[in-house]
Amino acid sequence: STTLPYPREVVARLGDVAVNQPVHFNYPDSRSPCVLIRKGREVKVGVGPDRDVVAYSTQCTHMGCPVNYDQKAETFKCPCHYSVFDPDNAGQMVIGHATESLPRIILEYDEAEDALLAVSVDGLIYGRQANII
Ligand code: FES
Repeated sequence: STTLPYPREVVARLGDVAVNQPVHFNYPDSRSPCVLIRKGREVKVGVGPDRDVVAYSTQCTHMGCPVNYDQKAETFKCPCHYSVFDPDNAGQMVIGHATESLPRIILEYDEAEDALLAVSVDGLIYGRQANII
């Protein structure tokens, strides 16, 4: 059911996250690989004191291949059919065969703990009928 609650999970301490270095985690369960990026500048859906942190599912919305974060281009690239997704624009596809944006992991920042928490997902993770299964 889509009414099941999302877990709240600490992904990283902001102070430990280097700019433009992907941090891998799984959310909302162990079979769903994701990545968090601290951009070092404010982006559209960024969280944290500098509004610069974003996170996405790394399963391509076309056929589920794992996308890679290209640190030079600052985009996610799918090696299977070359879709490209923009982390600065809510995971929107820039080029390619996918028809959906990369599912975005909704983050919250806990200032007291300097913690980045995953709290929900915007978009359907590839291959699922509901994100919480
Ligand atoms: Fe990613 Fe086809 S699986 S573009």
